[in-house]
Parts: sequence; C-alpha cells; structure tokens
Amino acid sequence: MDTAEIRRRFVAHFESAGHTPVPSASLLLDDPNLLFVNAGMVPFKPYFLGQETPPYDRAVSIQKCARTPDIEDVGKTTRHGTFFEMCGNFSFGDYFKEQAIELAWELITKAQSDGGFGFAESVLYPSVLDGDDEAVGLWRKVTGLPDERIIRLGPKENYWSMGVPGPGGPCSEILIDRGPAYGPDGDFSAEDRYLEFWNLVFMQDELSAVRSKEDFDISGSLPRKNIDTGMGLERVAFMTQGVENMYEIDVMFPVIERAMELTGRTYGADHVDDVRFRVVADHVRSSMMLIGDGVTPGNEARGYVLRRLLRRAVRSMRLLGYEDPALPELMPISRDKMGETYADLHTDWDRISRVAYAEEETFRKTLQAGTTMFDLAASKVKQSGGASIAGAEAFQLHDTFGFPIDLTLEMAAEAGLSVDEDGFRGLMAEQRERAKADARSKRGQHADTGAYRTVLDEHGPTEWLAYETLETESRPLALLREGVPVTVLGPGEVGEIILDRTPFYAESGGQAADAGIIEFDGGRLEVVDVQRPIKGLVVHQVRVVDGELATSSASSSLLHAQVDPEWRTGARQAHSGTHVVHAALRQVLGPTALQSGSYNRPGYLRLDFGWTTGLTPEQVRDIERVSNEALRADLPVGWQYMTLEQAKEWGAVALFGETYDNTKVRVVEIGGPWSRELCGGTHVDHSSQIGTVVVTGEASVGSGNRRIEAFTGVEGFAYLARERDVVGQLTSLLKIQPQDLVPRVGDLVDRLRAAEKEIERIRLQQLLSGGAELAASAVDVGGVRVVAHRVDGAGGGDVRTLALDVRGRLPGDQPAAVVVIGAADGKVSVVAALNDAAQSRGLSANDLVRTVGPFVGGKGGGKADVAQGGGTDTSRIDEALAAVLASVQGA
Ligand code: ALA
Repeated sequence: MDTAEIRRRFVAHFESAGHTPVPSASLLLDDPNLLFVNAGMVPFKPYFLGQETPPYDRAVSIQKCARTPDIEDVGKTTRHGTFFEMCGNFSFGDYFKEQAIELAWELITKAQSDGGFGFAESVLYPSVLDGDDEAVGLWRKVTGLPDERIIRLGPKENYWSMGVPGPGGPCSEILIDRGPAYGPDGDFSAEDRYLEFWNLVFMQDELSAVRSKEDFDISGSLPRKNIDTGMGLERVAFMTQGVENMYEIDVMFPVIERAMELTGRTYGADHVDDVRFRVVADHVRSSMMLIGDGVTPGNEARGYVLRRLLRRAVRSMRLLGYEDPALPELMPISRDKMGETYADLHTDWDRISRVAYAEEETFRKTLQAGTTMFDLAASKVKQSGGASIAGAEAFQLHDTFGFPIDLTLEMAAEAGLSVDEDGFRGLMAEQRERAKADARSKRGQHADTGAYRTVLDEHGPTEWLAYETLETESRPLALLREGVPVTVLGPGEVGEIILDRTPFYAESGGQAADAGIIEFDGGRLEVVDVQRPIKGLVVHQVRVVDGELATSSASSSLLHAQVDPEWRTGARQAHSGTHVVHAALRQVLGPTALQSGSYNRPGYLRLDFGWTTGLTPEQVRDIERVSNEALRADLPVGWQYMTLEQAKEWGAVALFGETYDNTKVRVVEIGGPWSRELCGGTHVDHSSQIGTVVVTGEASVGSGNRRIEAFTGVEGFAYLARERDVVGQLTSLLKIQPQDLVPRVGDLVDRLRAAEKEIERIRLQQLLSGGAELAASAVDVGGVRVVAHRVDGAGGGDVRTLALDVRGRLPGDQPAAVVVIGAADGKVSVVAALNDAAQSRGLSANDLVRTVGPFVGGKGGGKADVAQGGGTDTSRIDEALAAVLASVQGA
C-alpha cells in the first residue's frame, strides 16, 4: 500500500467517524519550548489546555513533524527519521479511552480489501501503563484478546508528554510482532521485533515540569478529558510495503536509488554504506521540508539543525565516494515524491533549491579550507610527539569551518591520531548554553515562564488594545523582576509589570515594541520593552522614573498606560514602509524574492530576503522609486481577518518563520492586491502617511540572503538633508555647481594621482643625481675605494637603488665597497654593495651589514656582493658608518 493510500484511508476512516480534517500546520509553531513541531497534537495544544475553544470536538490530521535530538541514530535503526509524518485523531473533551481504542483497532485490523490496513490480530499487542486497569479492561472488551496479550509497561514507555510543560497522560501503544528474526520472544524492549506504530494518549493531566520520561510533576487535571493519538505513517508504510525500514518506503527509496547511480555503490551490500545511504535519504527530505517551511541555514537553533542535516547529507555522499555537488541530483527526486502531498514544494522550488544548493556550495569551500587547517593541526600534534588532537582544535574546526565532528574523527583516524572528544563535547555544550541563554534574553524570556503562566491562569489573557487606542486605564496584575514575582519596585529599578489591559504593542512580526509611560498615583514608569513571553500575555519591562510601585497600593488603584504617540506614528510608518519595500522588491526582482526576516522601528526598517546575487545600483534605485510612487499614489491601507486558506487565495504573502492560526489570520493590504501580507503589526491609514522611503543600502547577510535598509518618515528627510549638506559643503569648497561635482572630483583625483607620480619621479631623480657626487667622494681605505654614506628620509628601496648606483659608478678594476644607511620614520635601512674585486680581496657585503647591526638595533644579511638589513635605532648611524670603515681597514 503506498503512502498516499495509507493517508487516504486514515483520514477517510476518521472523517466518517465525525472528525474534521485539519491540514498539517507548519513545522515551525510559536512555542518557545519547541524547536519544531514534534507531534500531531502540537497545533492543538491550546485546545487541550483549555486556553482556546476548539471549533470542533473531533479532528483528524497528518502532521509534518521533525525530531532531531537522535540525529546520530538515523540510518542505524529501522525507524529514526528526523522528518516524519504523524497521523492522528483527536478528541477535545468528546470521546475518551473506549472509543479511541475501538477506532484504532477497527482501522488496523480491517481487511485491506475493506479499506483497512489488514494487520493480523495474532501479531498485535496493545500495551498500557502499568496500573491502568481500566485500559486493560477496555482493550479486552474491544478486541477480545486474552489478558496475556496486553502488555503492562512503566511510565517510560506508557506515559506521554511533550517533554516540556504542557498536557500529558497515560497512553496505550500498539505493537506489532515482526517475528523471531528481529529479536527474542517476549522481549518488548526489542523495538525492532515489537515495533510500536500507534500511540493512543489519554490526555488528562497538566504537567508543570518534565525532567525525564519517568520524572515529571503533574500540577493538575486538564479541564476536560481528551484523546491524542499518533500513528507513524512511515512505520505503517514499511510494514505494508514489505520493506525492512522507513528509508525504503515508496516516498524515500527513490533518493537511495539515485544515490546508488551516482556513487556506483550498491545499497544492501555493506552495513556502513547502507547507513550512509539512509542518512542521505532522510536528511535530503528533512532539510527540504524545513527549508520549505522557512528555515534557512545558520549557526543557531533551527538554522543550525538545518545546516547540520544538509552537511551530513553532503558528507555522507562524499563518504560513498561522490564528490560533485550532490543536492541538485538528489533533492529534486525527494521533491517529486513529497510534492504529491505538499504542493508548495513545487511552487516554492526556486527558493528551496537555491537555499539548499548555496549551503552545499559553502560547505564545499569549507571542506577545502578546513582540510588545510586540519592538516596543520595534525602535523603540529605529530611534531610534538602527541597522538591526540585537542578538543579545542576540533571545536574550532567545527565552529569556524563547520566541520562535523565525525569528519574530524575520521580524518584523524586516517592520520593515525585520535581526538579528545570529551573536550570537544564540553566546549560544544558550553556554546549551546550560551546560545540558549542568548536567545532567551533576546526574546525577553526567562528560562522559567512559570510565573507568567500563573498570572495567565489566574487572570486570563491580557486585553490587548494596541489597534484601538494609545492609552488605557489599567489594573496591575503582577510585578516581577527577572521572571520572579515581587511586591515592590523602587525608584530607578527595572522590572516587569503585567496589566489587565494595555495599548502597548509587544515586539513581534519584526516591529519593535512601543515606547511610552505608565503613570500611577505618586509615580511614573518608563516602558523600555514590551514582550509576549507566553501566548496571550503582554509583559511590560519598565524602569521606575518616579515614586515606588507596590502591589498592595497598586492593586487598589488604576494606572494610566500611555503609548508615546510620536513613537507609534513612526512605528506605523516604518512597518507600512516595510510592506511597501517588500512589494516593490518583488515587483522589481520578481515574485521569488521573498522576505526572510525584517525589523522596523520608528524611522528605520530593514528587510532580509532570499536572493543569492548582489543587486545592481539600478535595481536598488528601482525599488526605491517603485516604493515612493506607491507613497505618492496615496494607496489606502486596511486589514481584515480571514482563514489562512482564504488569505492564500487572496495571494497574501505568508512569511516564513511566522506562525499563524489557520482559522483566523490578519491580512494587511496596501492598495488592495498591490501588497497583501499576513501581519499583526500597526500600520498607517494611507500610504502617503509613510512620508518617504529612502533606501540607504543593500548587502549580503549570510548565504542566500540579502538585506535592504531604508529610512522612513522624517528620518528619511533628515537623511537626505544630511546628504544635501555634504554636497553643499563640497560645492562651496570647490566653488562649483552640484551637477559639476562628480566630474570635478573625478578630475581632482586623477590630477592628484598624476601629481603623486610626478613627485615620486623627481624624488628618485634627486636621489640618484647624488650618486655621481657620492662616487667621487669615495675614500681609499687600505686599497679599497669606500663610500659609507647616510641619507636621511630614505627607506629600504631607495637605499638599495642608491647603493647599487654608486657601486656601478666606481671603477671595476679596483676593489670598491659601498654602504648606505637610510633613516626614515624611525626606521633604519642598510645596504652594502661590493664589486668583484673587493670580494676577491675577501670582503663581504654580508659582513658589512652585520657590522652595522649592533649599532642600529637590527639585523640583516645577504650575499657577498649585496646585503641588506634594517634596524630601529637611528641615533648611532654615524658610529655605524665609522665601524664600517674600521672593518674594511682591518680586513
Ligand atoms: N502525541 C503522541 C505521540 O507523539 C500521540 O506519540
């Protein structure tokens, strides 16, 4: 049964049982605790927790998932995939254990000819959490299986949570016995033999902390009892397709087949190679899906995972003996398979392939540079008689060159060395900690969101009025410092305040947080930042300007929250300006140019977009011109809510890395279809209110991304005014009209260059014209004609030219020695030049330069005919010259 058929049957089964089909959400959902969506239930989390009311009681989905902590296991087992699809049915307070069991059992045991999966009952083993007798009873009742076929397992296997605080509950897994070839009878921990392929979670608890699979705190019951299930699409596929593992199923194996063609090696011939083939199949697919959902390679968090996947795929191909660019050969194969379900892979292929291929190119260069550095490190270790490459070196290879550790290990082994892996891992762990702390502090989040959660549970979501008003009378709900509740904030202190309602815009969607003040009886707070650390809760970071705010006094009275109106005007201009520039960018470069990130604050905006080449000055000007034409056209700006589907039909641009509620998204339009984007920001009413868009620059920001920056509103005018002032100063200095400025300055630069050349020529002429005179001044020292001369202001090259010139002027039939010492900028240059006759007398230029050395604090040397040296002490040059004469005399 091919994967498409398994999908179809799964959805049809549950749809006929009253479940609403829900499309897969993006892999990136806005949950600070999760890197990627890792289970089918993640998009429904607010429903389970009772934070939002679900629009249906029953749902069925096939959710894209990514789990990357086990990346090293990929290919070594039958079932570790960094990307996989989870088929799930969900009940939100509707049916519970019994019907969940019934529905699952029916689908898996029904004959294939009847629309089921056709698994024989004799090989199926349900498992329950040890002690959940109710579940045992229900399994027996529904399936008629004898007691011994129902396995009791501990919480490690049969209690499910997201691994982070949130909903959870006891679960029942359905295992299938694949026969004695895969492990001993009755050993239910032999996962290849008793393969778990469906997990039914009886979701009833709320967890406040999860330390491990067996160690967690249940803080209470969920408002209602729910069902969350997850059936591994790939697992069912490999069992129904009669293949050995998930990498061999219909949507993955074609990549392995192509890899075989490219490498000339055979899958199934060698275990080590097989693992590499599987890594390739898995990673090519995962990275494509991640890029599809908007991840770009980077050095942190999601970007880092993606980079690792891409590089491991490329690296595995190299280990299989294929050295040419591999992704352009492999990824299109994966696209054709996955694109049957995810059409975006086709429509977005330009961008996806560009990002992936650029990363491979970067990695190829990296490999080159890193190999040189590795060779150096290895030869250093060998020279010093060591046998192990230090952890710090391995870390640097990784950090600077993106060398995966397995690559370093392998190259070290080839060189007969080992690597201090513990040292390396220690440094990696430190770096990860730093990155995490950094990310948290950037988001204004504290590691523990418990205190915020408490406020939210007690008071509900903040009434958020940023679209309606700039000021509110608000009641304070909590004061905190660094995420910890406090009772008072004193003068000058910085802390956080949570209000029941607020007009402040919390930083999101690229728009900076609002600035403003919060006044209370007897004091004033300056709002320095506004964040939304958990969904629904707005937190103001404030500095106490006046007075003292205590929870006791504050709770009784209302505070006055006031957004700085000028700030907000600037913010609206900048955010609308960002949309305008984005639309202009796509008009000029084409629709494949898509924003990958943005930031805007009053007066300023920047927009990053996926594009691999630099823009020409004309393209930049065009983007600016199109933007300003849109301002002048005074386009109306408006927004409305709709479903994600409707928004897509409208052609609204959904931005990557952003997360949207499928049922209600906000679409901001400028001039109707001219610009439509999903956006939660604040905007002007008419495009002319943006004032101006002045593009100030365009540059690369990492692989495959460029950044355009601009000023908006008054800042735009101010920028232009500053430029005009510069022009004004130049024209008055040069006493010309602005239009003559460029030719005139060009002319001045040319003339300056010519003048410099001329000066150089004259200087040399002067220097050399002294040559004849110097040659004439040669003195006789014991039968040798000697010129020992000092030139102030001459550096090495000039000194050499002069010395050689003088030597050439002295008669060749008589021994001649010339020593010139120059002093310029505190540096001494010495050149000695001897003719053949002097050398025959046993004199050497090298010796003469060495004679000078000690006097000028320097050294040097050369051959017998010409030698050169330098020094740093100019005070004893005359003594040095005397020493030269003495040395010739004594020779
Ligand atoms: N959420 C459950 C799991 O991921 C179904 O296994």
